[in-house]
Amino acid sequence: MIPTAKLAAVREQFPVTTRQLYLDSAHQTPLALSVREALEAFLSEGFEMAGPKPVWLRRVEETRESVATFFNAAPTEIAFTKNTSEGLNIAANAVPLRAGDNVVLIEGDHPNNAYAWLNLKRNGIEVRFAPLPDDEIATAKTFEPYIDARTKVVSLSHVTFHAGQVHDLMSIGRLCKARGIYLIVDAMQSVGVIPLDVKALNISVLAAGTHKGLLVPQGLGVLYIADGLDELQPAYLAMSSMANPPADYVARPDDMALRKDARRFEFGNVNLPDLHALHAAIGLIQSVGVAAIQKHVLALGDLLLERLDALGVSVVGPRARGKRNHIYVLKLPVDKWTDYFARNNVRVSPERGGIRVSLAMFNTVGDIERLIEMLRIGLTTGTLAATEQID
Ligand SMILES: Cc1ncc(COP(=O)(O)O)c(C=O)c1O
Repeated sequence: MIPTAKLAAVREQFPVTTRQLYLDSAHQTPLALSVREALEAFLSEGFEMAGPKPVWLRRVEETRESVATFFNAAPTEIAFTKNTSEGLNIAANAVPLRAGDNVVLIEGDHPNNAYAWLNLKRNGIEVRFAPLPDDEIATAKTFEPYIDARTKVVSLSHVTFHAGQVHDLMSIGRLCKARGIYLIVDAMQSVGVIPLDVKALNISVLAAGTHKGLLVPQGLGVLYIADGLDELQPAYLAMSSMANPPADYVARPDDMALRKDARRFEFGNVNLPDLHALHAAIGLIQSVGVAAIQKHVLALGDLLLERLDALGVSVVGPRARGKRNHIYVLKLPVDKWTDYFARNNVRVSPERGGIRVSLAMFNTVGDIERLIEMLRIGLTTGTLAATEQID
């Protein structure tokens, strides 16, 4: 677990924790003080002097470097996008695919991944779905029966939003490498909470938004495209994609050479406020360490499962360490319990199979105990308990 003094300092960064039992980081994380300060500093610069843009752009490159270290990637392999969906759509339209080729996904995975690929059906691309129960994780074996000589892409979430499964990217990456298949990963739910090494996992492309584990407001995404995948070409172009952007701002039809790095997939101006925020957020995350954050949420998860067992409440997803991380979906009737928690100032999310509790670096043993106490009261009163019964 994160040592007590350090945890207290982290908690101070998230004032919402004094007002609310916040167990909803898989939906979005509350802003940290340092992230808010970075946003405010950017706004002041814009307000007082509308720039200076070269300074802002230099900071973008610093942020690119720190994002790259997150993934054990090179800065040349990182592009900034708008969100996960944009990154996955960029990938879907960049991979060289021909009619009759196929893509394999997990049934029930996040729709933002599925639609990016389903859109290719109009080009004759087949989209296959491998079934998977909510309490199991995907491994190479999940995909093997669905893969053939025309399979070009396997794409899946690293951590699922609806059951908290942590898929075995290592075995899936090995399979994809052996079969010459692109492995494309939606890391929206894992980035910042699970250490990610794109090289060790043989990931070709990774896309994530930044408003959960990376702690900034919605509207910024990160995209990893492995160096050397030169055959991946952008569907959209702007000056920022070009190897030789015209200094006089007149397009050169005779020079269409693209950048070699991941920035060939960036077009136009990027989300500068959020990129300033992300720089601060990464500083905060690194001050604890992603491995330490993962250990922390896992230890809280162990405690949560133990206490849920005692109450007789089960979870939708897998229970074994290594197959779960920070997302726990409690098998409870959604309507009744969503309302109960909202009335009692507990932030959780309704999900397909129950009530989603998601943990972050600022959560504590006390948070788990409070949740369990509320559950106990709710269960014994048929969830009709009002705030006065909790207080
Ligand atoms: C696995 C997963 N992918 C993607 C998203 C969101 O997609 P986007 O970043 O495009 O809004 C979410 C949730 O917000 C998610 O849980």
